[in-house]
Amino acid sequence: MKRVAILISGGGSNMVALVQSMTGDHPARPVLVASNDPAAAGLAKAEGAGIAVAAVDHRPFGADRAAFEARLLRHIEAASPDILCLAGFMRVLTPEFVARFQGRMLNIHPSLLPKYPGLHTHRRAIEAGDAEAGCTVHEVTPVLDDGPILGQARVPVRPGDTADSLAARVLVEEHRLYPAVLRRFALGERGRLDL
Ligand code: GAR
Repeated sequence: MKRVAILISGGGSNMVALVQSMTGDHPARPVLVASNDPAAAGLAKAEGAGIAVAAVDHRPFGADRAAFEARLLRHIEAASPDILCLAGFMRVLTPEFVARFQGRMLNIHPSLLPKYPGLHTHRRAIEAGDAEAGCTVHEVTPVLDDGPILGQARVPVRPGDTADSLAARVLVEEHRLYPAVLRRFALGERGRLDL
């Protein structure tokens, strides 16, 4: 059974989708949900699901990302995860942190990468006049929102869409895609999944 730690920064809806998927004959189980924001709503959801939680507020560390990560790492290492899932985790990780989990860290990003790495993905897709948008699960490498793509799901961009309406449509697909990719990843399958 693979042990999965999940990093969040906010509401944690992707974390909940991942956690709910890891039951029965699923090859993985959640062992920790950690956040850089002690007020992240997802922490209470994880606790409610009986999962160990940790919060390491990044703000007191200022620009010292390595010190923040060292503290976070203590919690993560204590949980001995095989796989680390970034699920709406909004801190950029140092190359040293990424190297530690290279090949076993996944991220979900709300665009069809390589389009629109970074922020404001839905607004950028609408402004570009794209006919479709979507989400990507990829392995994390030191380059932001880069790394081998493990799966994508697509949605149409509709006339009159706002960033919020498009984000909501994409989020539904995120909740399908991430659990499906994690399951395959935990089984050692590395092929790409297109939903
Ligand atoms: C999700 O849409 C996720 O793809 C995005 O943040 C949201 C988190 O929602 N992640 C990023 O933008 C990472 N750069 P959630 O907390 O409800 O899962």
